[in-house]
Amino acid sequence: MSKFIYKDNILFCENVAVTDIVKEVGTPAYVYSKKTLLDNFESYSNAFEKNDGLVCFSVKSLSNISVLRLLKYKGSGFDIVSGGELERVLAAGVDPKKIIFTGIAKSNEEIIQGIRKNILSFNIESEAEMLRIEKLATDENKIVDVAIRFNPEIDSGGHEYIKTGRKKDKFGVLLEGVINLSKYILSSSSLNLIGLSCHIGSQIFELNDFEESAKYIKKLAKEINKLGIELKFLDVGGGLGISYNDSNFPSPSNLIKDLENILSDRNEKIILEPGRSISGDAGILLTSVEYVKDDYLIIDAGMNDLIRPALYDAKHQIINVEKNKVPAKEWTIVGPICESSDVMAKNYSLGASGGSILAIKTTGAYGHVMSSNYNSRRKPPEILVDDDKFEIIRKRETYEDLIRHEVNLGS
Ligand code: LLP
Repeated sequence: MSKFIYKDNILFCENVAVTDIVKEVGTPAYVYSKKTLLDNFESYSNAFEKNDGLVCFSVKSLSNISVLRLLKYKGSGFDIVSGGELERVLAAGVDPKKIIFTGIAKSNEEIIQGIRKNILSFNIESEAEMLRIEKLATDENKIVDVAIRFNPEIDSGGHEYIKTGRKKDKFGVLLEGVINLSKYILSSSSLNLIGLSCHIGSQIFELNDFEESAKYIKKLAKEINKLGIELKFLDVGGGLGISYNDSNFPSPSNLIKDLENILSDRNEKIILEPGRSISGDAGILLTSVEYVKDDYLIIDAGMNDLIRPALYDAKHQIINVEKNKVPAKEWTIVGPICESSDVMAKNYSLGASGGSILAIKTTGAYGHVMSSNYNSRRKPPEILVDDDKFEIIRKRETYEDLIRHEVNLGS
């Protein structure tokens, strides 16, 4: 059950009235429910019955260190895509042997960072990257564990911008390249092949598509075994879709059941990299109505705070934190940014007026992490609610923060 519900017509996150949060921190502000994050994580981690599994939370979806720490205590592993994300998970005290490093453009600096920290695996996305990791491993005098991320050539996922597993996409190694890379790694004295990985996209509702990629993984694993290589994990990626409008969506336990059926004769650990399905419905973005102009509700959260509607035409539910106070009417809800695309919702029926506080729902994933300082706006704070208490886990940026890195400020 959602942890964002009305009590006496006031929106609560767990047992905190969100109006109390606004009194302390103002708007815009992201609010996360600890219980939702943990329940969502456990809906994956508790679902493994037959195979050994590791859930590697996809840090890119929500990267606040306090959130990462919560998941770490529940045994989470972490899927990272940059040196910055590596710093975050290490700051959260994560065991490096639970970190997998994905991403097509890993720099020398990032690879060295990962090698020195002895992470679980680099998911290699190209031959050129493999050669670079090998060279850096040799320089560092280390044998580095790697997995090959292959491209399963499956067309899945929501918006065009979040598909990743088709032949034309920039991610992973094409199927026909996997065995050649495996042979190379076998002959290398600095690389050790321990896994296979794939990721077909994001916001996927078809379990069939995951089943397809698991079948590919199994087939490739068998071929790799024939070379005399024993693998430690098979990583089927993230991407399970969630509902943005209260409709039905597949559960992690069904996904894991399906994967266990397909991989029942395999001994490798099954790794999953869910992001959105753990963090998405755990967050809301609180915003105030600054002005009402004709049919426009002008709010104080813009595309710099939440870019999903402008970038993917994403539809987030928007509700008034005080229910039934004002009769509903159709609005175009717009942010303050000087771009016509800064629209949070069009033709949206909502009871609101000047000064109303609104909650934009299901914004825990790809919300704050994609925020920017465009129009020199300060990034919003993040608040974590735990039952009847809340704490600020990231402060609102200050104007000093905005100009901190600029030089020669003398007049
Ligand atoms: N693993 C890899 C290699 C990925 O590229 C991604 C997401 C994930 C895991 C996690 O996927 P999830 O379970 O969260 O769907 N900004 C977009 C989503 C981009 C997803 C990119 N990759 C959005 O707001 O919809």
